[in-house]
Amino acid sequence: LHPALEQAARLIREVPDFPEPGILFRDISPLLADGEAFAAVVTALGDGLEFDVVAGVEARGFLLGAAVAHARGTGVVGLRKPGKLPEVADRVDYQLEYGSASLELPAATISAGQRVLVVDDVLATGGTLRAACELLGRAGAKVVASSVVLELTALGGRDRVDSDVQALLAV
Ligand code: PRP
Ligand code: MG
Repeated sequence: LHPALEQAARLIREVPDFPEPGILFRDISPLLADGEAFAAVVTALGDGLEFDVVAGVEARGFLLGAAVAHARGTGVVGLRKPGKLPEVADRVDYQLEYGSASLELPAATISAGQRVLVVDDVLATGGTLRAACELLGRAGAKVVASSVVLELTALGGRDRVDSDVQALLAV
């Protein structure tokens, strides 16, 4: 592991019983707040891959996805929680580790045939990335990979995601 990523890993906080009792929440906020750690993860996300546009998953995937897109000279699309968009191209409902959720694709963003890099902070059960890939696939895009900072391997989420998965760190 690159030393900068090792240092970044130390900045991820473990918060017990959030958002529900029994869930150990991994918070990357301190990592994002550290310039070197943020630069290290932004450089590593999507490294070695070619893509036309980045799709960042609300909410923390926005921060990472926009930075990756800017670093690579692509545009960025926010995959949003419901009720935020004035025009919705499509919507996918899915199950979370805790509760259920939906993601919406904004209208007039993705064209058929585009190569998309999906970016989010954490891969847990895989429901979120699965939904993101389904949304983009229905729009005719090709998801080149789903890239996350941290994979929670014990939950086996990778197997639920239809794209390749690139995780910078794993626990
Ligand atoms: C968290 C995390 C991932 C997702 C991973 O987001 O940021 O997006 O859960 O879980 P999964 O692999 O089991 O689907 P959350 O939905 O809590 O919302 P937020 O990013 O808006 O805080
Ligand atoms: Mg999220």
